Amino acid sequence: MSEQQLQASKQQITNQVKDYYSNSLNSSADLKTSACCPAQAPPGYLAPLLDNIHPQIKDSFYGCGSPLPLAAEGCTVLDLGCGTGRDVYLLSQLVGETGEVIGIDMTDRPLDIARSHIDWHCDRFTYANPNMRFKKGNIENLTSCGIKDNCIDIIISNCVINLSPDKEAVFKEIYRVLKPGGELYFSDVFADRRLPANLQQHKVLLGECLGGALYQGDFDLMMRKVGLTDHRIVSKRPLTVEDKTLHALTGSTQFYSVTVRSFKLRFEPRRENYGQFARYLGTIIHSPDSFALDQQLQFKAEVPVSIDGNTAMILNHSRLAQHFKVHGETELHYGRFDARFDAPADGKLTTASTATSGSCC
Ligand SMILES: C[S@@+](CC[C@H](N)C(=O)[O-])C[C@H]1O[C@@H](n2cnc3c(N)ncnc32)[C@H](O)[C@@H]1O
Repeated sequence: MSEQQLQASKQQITNQVKDYYSNSLNSSADLKTSACCPAQAPPGYLAPLLDNIHPQIKDSFYGCGSPLPLAAEGCTVLDLGCGTGRDVYLLSQLVGETGEVIGIDMTDRPLDIARSHIDWHCDRFTYANPNMRFKKGNIENLTSCGIKDNCIDIIISNCVINLSPDKEAVFKEIYRVLKPGGELYFSDVFADRRLPANLQQHKVLLGECLGGALYQGDFDLMMRKVGLTDHRIVSKRPLTVEDKTLHALTGSTQFYSVTVRSFKLRFEPRRENYGQFARYLGTIIHSPDSFALDQQLQFKAEVPVSIDGNTAMILNHSRLAQHFKVHGETELHYGRFDARFDAPADGKLTTASTATSGSCC
């Protein structure tokens, strides 16, 4: 395919998506699949915040997860593909009046709905001034929306990147605009394989976030290529295609809704063991007893947990640093990180392999 043909095909996908979100959907009741609606109830602490959201905004929410990170007070957050703005209005409450949330979308219709409720939400949140803005633009080119280099603390996105015909451009822009130590935290649809071209362009499959689903293998490489070299799975749940016609097309392909987090930091290519451990101080609002960095790594308040060098980097150099005490440096290396390490109460580390002695056997 020539460069010209490639650009034309990308533009066609963008136009198709824009048309879907302008003309085919009025509310989540119009969706033909369940990909763009989270099956799980959002975390409990969000319930009172959701009560503060206008009904029209809640009815026109098409996300597939809850990419709403904790410890966001005072942060500047960017929502890529904000739609009618449900997550922007939730984050507006999480960042508080000193923070800022910018929603970006390429389609006028959802943006008009989002903007029409700014005053209503400011009254509801008792904010003197709006801390949220909605901008029109393409997430592949954030410069066109005036987003400068290294200026965003957190980027979220809910069921949007799959819709982009140029995902690598989106991740490059994410890397560019994040501050050092900033975080990408997004939910999206993944598939266990690359879909054939006819499914990628199918009007409903594309519009409802299945046709452009990210293939994990390609995603991992793309993230590394743009510089986001360590990403973590926060949650993952399978999606089902109930519609018989669509199911016949997708066959045995397994789709997932996945929430991923990654930080703009200089990581090592692999997780290495320097004998470090960390304690969560219990200071994050809405989560005083425990904090989950990802599916595997859960911290209970004040309990030391053994961590690899990259995790130490996150806990020392991101906005999470004020909520953790990391013990140990990186001058001594003990090989590749092994999750079997446990930190006992006296702080001295032991492993399953060191608990029983024995050399040369
Ligand atoms: C599935 S909806 C999700 C909307 C919103 N995140 C939510 O959770 O309700 C996808 C949205 O992404 C927008 N979108 C898709 N591709 C885009 C792109 N390349 N640039 C900007 N917006 C895009 C669409 O206009 C649509 O509003």
